This record gives sequence, C-alpha cells and structure tokens, in this order.
Amino acid sequence: MAERVHAGEPLILEPDRLRAAGCRLGALLGDYEAGLRSRSVLPDVDRALIRRILDEPFPEDGRPLEELFDEFEDDIVPNSTQIAHPRFLAYVLATPASIAPFAEAAAAALNQNCNLWTLSPAANAIEQKVIAWFHDLFGMHGGGGIITSGGSMANLSALAVARDTHHPGDPRLDGLQSIASRMVLYTSQEAHNSIDKAAAIIGLGTDSVRRIPTDDRLRMRVDSLREAVAADRRRGHQPFCVVASAGTVTTGAIDPIDELAEYCRREGFWLHVDGAYGAFAALSDRLHGDLRKAGEGDSLSLDPHKLLFMPLEAGCVLFRDSAGWRNTFSFSPGYLAMPPDADFLHFSEYGPQLSRSFKALKIWWCLRAHGRRRYQVAIERVLDLAAYMGDRIVDEPRLELVAPVGLTAVCFRVRDADDSENRRLLETLVRDGLAFLGPAHVRGRFCLRGCFVNLRTTRQDVDAIVDAILRLAYRDDATRASR
Ligand SMILES: Cc1ncc(COP(=O)(O)O)c(C=O)c1O
Repeated sequence: MAERVHAGEPLILEPDRLRAAGCRLGALLGDYEAGLRSRSVLPDVDRALIRRILDEPFPEDGRPLEELFDEFEDDIVPNSTQIAHPRFLAYVLATPASIAPFAEAAAAALNQNCNLWTLSPAANAIEQKVIAWFHDLFGMHGGGGIITSGGSMANLSALAVARDTHHPGDPRLDGLQSIASRMVLYTSQEAHNSIDKAAAIIGLGTDSVRRIPTDDRLRMRVDSLREAVAADRRRGHQPFCVVASAGTVTTGAIDPIDELAEYCRREGFWLHVDGAYGAFAALSDRLHGDLRKAGEGDSLSLDPHKLLFMPLEAGCVLFRDSAGWRNTFSFSPGYLAMPPDADFLHFSEYGPQLSRSFKALKIWWCLRAHGRRRYQVAIERVLDLAAYMGDRIVDEPRLELVAPVGLTAVCFRVRDADDSENRRLLETLVRDGLAFLGPAHVRGRFCLRGCFVNLRTTRQDVDAIVDAILRLAYRDDATRASR
C-alpha cells in the first residue's frame, strides 16, 4: 500500500491494494470512534495547516495512498468540528449511524446514476422501496417521492410543484410572468428559512410569504392564518399554499396539522408539511399519533440526515399525487428518451437533478441493519435526553427555559443576564471546546439551544454541559460584582 496511487492503470487500484485500503479505512473509522470523546468539540484550528491547504499548487505527481490516510488522521480530523462528539448539540446535525460510511463507499464504487432506471436498476428499486416505507409510516397512500440532498431541496421541490399546480396558466411556458394576481404562501413565524429561500428561487418572491403568528407553544395560529388569507383576498391576491412545520427548526413545535389540512382542503390550498427536523420521530410510539398527521398534506419533506442518523446528505420529499409532481420536473430530450417500465421510475423526471448519486443505499442499509425497533430506541433516547435537560434547567434558579421542550430541542438562557451576556457565554462555552450548543432566538430573545440528534450523548454529558454553563454564569456574576 506504500506505492504511489498511480502505480497500475491510471487512477485504478489493483484488487489487493483496494482490500488493503479498505482495511485501513476500517481501522481509521474504528480509531476515530474510540478517540472521539477525548477530542475538543470545536477544534483549535491550525492556521498554518489551513494556509498549507490553501496554498498547495496543483499536484503534478501522485503520493502514496498511505500518506493520504495519515494526513487525514493527523491533519484533517483534528481540524474538523467533531459533530459526532457526545457534547455536540448544535443546529439539527446528527451523528451518523456507524455503518452508513460503508454504504457511502459501496455506493460510490458502483457509481449508479439514479436518473434513468437503465443506469441504476437495483438502486432504482431500493429508492422506490425506501420511499414506500416512508409513505406507509405517514399513511400517505399512492403518490411517490424522491431522495434529495436535504430538507432545503425537499422544500424547494415541493413548493415548485405547489406553484405549478395552482398556476392559472401554463407554468412551464410562462413562469410567473403571465400571472395577474400575486400567488401567496403562508407559513408560521417559526418556519425554517428554506421556505423563504424556496419562495425566492421559484420566483414567488419573499414578499409573497406571509409569516403567521404562533401561539404560546410556538405553533401556527389557524385563526391568524384565516385572517391573513382574507386580507390577501381583499387585496386581489391569490392565496395558494400553506406550509406547516412538523417540528419547527428552533423549538421543535408541531403545527396543528390536522386543523390546517382540513382548512386547506376546504379552501383548495396546497398543504406542504416541512417534517425535515421532526417527522421521523413518528418512529416512536410516543409521537406516532401526532406526527403521522404529517402525511395529511399534499407533500411532505423529510430529512434522513437528521432523526434517521444518516451522514450528510440525505433528504426526501413525498407527494400525494404523482401526476402533478411529474409535470414540474419531466423534460425528456431525445438523448435521454427511454421507454417506460412498470417496475421502475426515471427519477430524473421527478426532481431538478439529472445525475443523482445512490443516496438511498445508506438509508436502506441502516433501516434493514437495525430495524424499526432499534430506531425507536435511538429516537426515544434523544427525546429523553432533551426532556432531562429541560428538567435540569427548570430546576436551576439561575437558568430559564424559554420555550417548551419540543421534540429534541431545548432553548434556554441565563436568567437576569441580557442577550449580549448570554451570547458571550455561549461563545466561551463553544470556544473552550467543552460543548457545542447553538444560538437561537425565541420571541425575539437570544438563547442557547441544545438539540439532541446525537447517538452518543449521555445524561452525564447533559449534566456536565449544564454545570459548565452555570460555572460560566457565576463567573460572569463575580466579574460584574468586582467592577
Ligand atoms: C424544519 C427544517 N426544515 C428544513 C431544514 C433544512 O434542511 P437541510 O439543512 O437538510 O437543507 C431544516 C434544517 O435544520 C429544518 O430544521
């Protein structure tokens, strides 16, 4: 394995060298797992190394693969944020299930192009199967879906189909140029920013997004939605779509989806449910009842790279009706023409991408390797940890829970400290490498946010994090008192 990579055919390794490289990769993954806890969550970035990376000239000659692996372990790992570290609780970023990297490597070796079924027959069936399981989980019968790079692409795809379905003319020919009345979309003040981004990209414009106020549990208020729709109608606008959240990005609030579904049915609106953060918590019996309702919309975004613990990237969008969905994305130039086949889908006709990687393999492997029951245990573990952290915060007079613990998100702040003091405390906590929590705003107030999508976190980690925050808060008090 110490020869240069290009010793044989250009860019191709001999089978025995591949086997040796595979062993090295396995050792690397094992060592990484074993050493994870001893690393700083946020790296102390080696700027000289970063400079060396940035300044390296285009390589003329190759280097031994062994050296690249060594470099990965010595330079790349220590200069990476340890997302899988038990005390990484920022954003909604999961620790990947251990077998997924192997599926990624196997999928890359096959390099199936998951657009035409003829370029990916088994992968095509696997993607359809995974989608069918997701449909069943949410009771969405019929229709279909596609694996995407993530929740943002899933939301974008769904809203493009919603726009085209409600377009009064020929959306593909005219776009929005021919529309006399503004098409308006409604979502809550707590919805993810990818909704605004999608509205801008698909030509609606962010001025066509109405952010509806929320109730005391940060869920969309249906009475306010009704009023906003009526006001837009009076202005001559065309309300057409409501986006509900099955887990808002900050607090994990679940909008009243059944009520919204009923309202949208009556008004003839498209209901899209953004379940990127929370919908897979339906794998737990505890939330199955609430979250199964996520399937009551016309479309549903899911993010396997969140509560299914996939490595990035793996998102998904489901549609209730296949025909409208295909209308938006199906372009078949002569060079891609392929006769239809009852067993397969040409996925290129169902999404914005042409070339697509075999992302379904890692999901299929993980679901079949672990099964629903293990997933249920994993999800309940992170739900329990969030509840535990919420309880710890409620018990600490110096801390204040600023929103109900929704799904796995805990938003809190140091009591009697202002926004900038809370922000500084979070920066210190993260900079010291002890834990990585995220920033958030709830009702306009800055707060710290722990989000549990981490399979390795324990209650002891939660205690250590809360204790560290209290230490920093009391230290700040002492500094203030001594001034
Ligand atoms: C509710 C919600 N929707 C959409 C997204 C965007 O997902 P992605 O980062 O996979 O694009 C997120 C990300 O956290 C989210 O929480």
